[in-house]
Order: sequence, then structure tokens, then C-alpha cells
Amino acid sequence: MAQLWGGRFTKETDQLVYNFNASISFDQKFYKQDIEGSIAHVLMLGKQGILTEAEMQEIVKTLKEISEEVESGKLEISDKYEDIHSFVEAELIDRLGDTGKKLHTGRSRNDQVALDMRLYTRQEVLVMDELVKDLLKAILKIMEENTDTIMPGFTHLQKAQPITLAHHMGAYFEMFKRDRSRLHDIYERMNYCPLGSGALAGTTYPLDRDYTAQLMGFYGPTLNSMDGVSDRDYLIEFLSAMSTIMMHLSRFSEEIIIWNSNEYQFVELDDAYSTGSSIMPQKKNPDIAELVRGKTGRVYGALMSLLTTMKGIPLAYNKDMQEDKELSFDAIDTVKGCLALFTGMIATMKFNKEVMSKSARHGFTNATDAADYLVNHGVPFRDAHGIVGQIVLYCIDKNIAIDDMSLEELKAISPVFEEDIFDAISMETCVNKRLTIGAPGEDAMKKVIEICKEYLK
Ligand code: ARG
Repeated sequence: MAQLWGGRFTKETDQLVYNFNASISFDQKFYKQDIEGSIAHVLMLGKQGILTEAEMQEIVKTLKEISEEVESGKLEISDKYEDIHSFVEAELIDRLGDTGKKLHTGRSRNDQVALDMRLYTRQEVLVMDELVKDLLKAILKIMEENTDTIMPGFTHLQKAQPITLAHHMGAYFEMFKRDRSRLHDIYERMNYCPLGSGALAGTTYPLDRDYTAQLMGFYGPTLNSMDGVSDRDYLIEFLSAMSTIMMHLSRFSEEIIIWNSNEYQFVELDDAYSTGSSIMPQKKNPDIAELVRGKTGRVYGALMSLLTTMKGIPLAYNKDMQEDKELSFDAIDTVKGCLALFTGMIATMKFNKEVMSKSARHGFTNATDAADYLVNHGVPFRDAHGIVGQIVLYCIDKNIAIDDMSLEELKAISPVFEEDIFDAISMETCVNKRLTIGAPGEDAMKKVIEICKEYLK
């Protein structure tokens, strides 16, 4: 046990209490941010004349050494300290004696931890953004290669109308694009520096908060010191954005699992991204997609957990807030892992274009277009709907597709049909007639792909 406090205590902390209270096992994750924050603080103390130039130089130099030594493994973070803040400060005092003891002037661990977590999260928001961008690139590549790959589009998991693979992938492109925009919003809102808030009420030292904020790339200081030490909204927003990313990844995973099934066979996963069974030799399982789907629950859990932790906390800092770390770290690492793996999986996945297009042909996905044909020849839509319903029934009975019927058979149900019906209900026509922006028609899709490319530049 090694603590920063103890002056007003007459007894040692109980060991179990100490262990329960300590956070060093997990907050050592942001040792770099803790030191970066301390350096900025000390530079500011020097500039303000609160520390002498020499003291400032000495502390900054030693803090840099500590950071490098931890990084290289020369210095091990010891769990005899309560948290990473105590470890760094004690290490500094060990090396500098009394000068080291001046580091914490005008600072509390409350604004320190608020800063560290913010610095760590800010960096992770950017890493996450890059990972989503990589995923978007992989999706766009599939889109570009598949503007004419016809497949069934589904509603209720029932074949509905023909679309293209590019169009289907394009839907995910839009989702992940919005995910990025959420990350950008979070960055904008969170990028204010809480350092200088003190324990809760600021400090009597003439700190230059604008200066520290600027040194660390923040837009400025937070404007209320009580809020500065107790705001965890940005984490909740980040967990919410990550939950949405996972929800999207999970829907996508579910589709890949279905498409990879023996019944569908729309896709084949690369050997490097699938796993076998210890007993059934024929198996090639979509474990990555299943794990991504499964881990979604974990990330939702983190969001609910932090929302619940925060809901009853009076202002300002309370120790409950220490609980923000493990769950956030776990969620961040989980989502980063899922994004990277998922991108690799879809980038190496093979699409069975034949099977997809055959599947689109069998399932009456052109029934709407057959009805539209009748409407274009003067039949009211409701009657056309009924006529095509009869045609579908006839085809089910004969186990054929509408396109397989002869003109005579069609005419027997409605004399309006002529030879050009076959062209009107071909899969290619069904898709390529749909040309409003956002629709699967090849020309419309190519315009959207151009916009997507521009966006990723
Ligand atoms: N480990 C603490 C946390 O994560 C650091 C802040 C401690 N502050 C305090 N007043 N005990 O929140």
C-alpha cells in the first residue's frame, strides 16, 4: 500500500478496503495520458511563475523519462500504488525529492482523472473513426464490383423484389457513414479541457486554463468546474455510438450467417475467417460473424451500466465514477476488435453470383413489375394485383417462375399480356428500371457510388 494521502488518518487502511478502492490494475491503461496531462500542467505552472523555470524543466524532463521507461518496459507499474496518478507522482518524488512534490500544485485527482479519461477517449474516438472508415472502403469495393450482381431483396426474410449486391451493400455504407458522423459529433462536444477544475471549485492559484487546454489540443477549457470533474456524458455518448456500430455490425453478421448457410449459399467465407468443428469434419463455421453478433450484448451492457451508475450521483465527484473505466475500456477494445475482424472477413468473402441471381429469379420477385406492366396497359392497379396473384398461384402449382410461362398461358389469365411482357419482367429490367436516386438501377447506383468515393477521399 502506498498512498498520496494519510495525514489525517491514525490507522492503516484495511487491506481488503485498499484492494476494493484501488484502480491501478485498470487505470494504468492511460499512463501516457496521465503524464501528458501532468507535463501540460507543469508547463503552465512554470509559465505562470507558480514553479520556477528550473523546477518546471526538471519535472518535465523526468516525467518524459518515466513515460519512456514505462513504454520500453524498463519501469514496471507497481500495484502497490492506489492508482496511476499516485504511481507517477511517487515515481517523480523518488527521482526529484522536494521538487517532485510540487507537481500536484493547483490540481486534484478529480480534474486529473477527468482529463486522463478524456484524453484517452478522444484518441480512441479517432482510432474508431479510422476503423469504420476502413470498413467503408471494403464495402465500397464490393459495391463497385457488383452493380450488376442481381440478388433478391427481402422483407420479412421473404423474397420481395430484385436488387443488386451493390445496392444491398450500399445500405450498410449509409449506416456506417452515419456512425462516423456520430463519432465526429462526439469529438466536437467532448474536446474541452477539465484540468484546472480542481477538486470541484477551481483553485486559488492563477492557473492559465486556456494555455493547458491549448497545449493538449483542446478547443478550450470547460466552463464550470463542478461539471468539469463530474461530466461523463461524452463516455455515454461514445458508448451509445459504439452500441449503434455494434447493432449495425450485428445485423450485417446475421445476414452473412444466413447467406453462408447451406440453404442459401450466397457467400463463401474465406478459410482464414472461418472455423471448423472438433467432431463434424464437413463443417466450416461463421464464428467471426457469430462472435461479433454476440459481443454486441456486451457493448450494450456497458452503455446501460454507465447510464445506471451516473443516474444517482449528486454533484460533484463521487467515487462511483471510477466505474466508468473498466466498462469503457472493455467496450472500446471489443468494438475495435470487431471492426477490424469484420472488415477482414467481408474483404475476403466470395459471393456466389450465380446462386444469388437464380434465387432472385425464383421467388416471384418480379410480380410487382408484372402488375405494373398491366397498369401501363390500362388495367387499374387493384385489378392488376389480383391478376398477378392468380398467375403466382398458377406458377406455384406448376412449380415454375412467371418468366417460364408461355404467352398463351399468360393471355389465358389476362388478354392484356403481349410478347413484351417477358422483357418487362426480366430481372435486369426490374432492377434497371428503378432509377430514382437511392434505387438499385445500375445508373442510379453508379451515381451514388461516385458520392461514396468522394466522401471517402
Ligand atoms: N481512481 C479515481 C477515479 O477513477 C481517481 C480519482 C480519485 N479521486 C478521489 N477523490 N478519490 O475516479
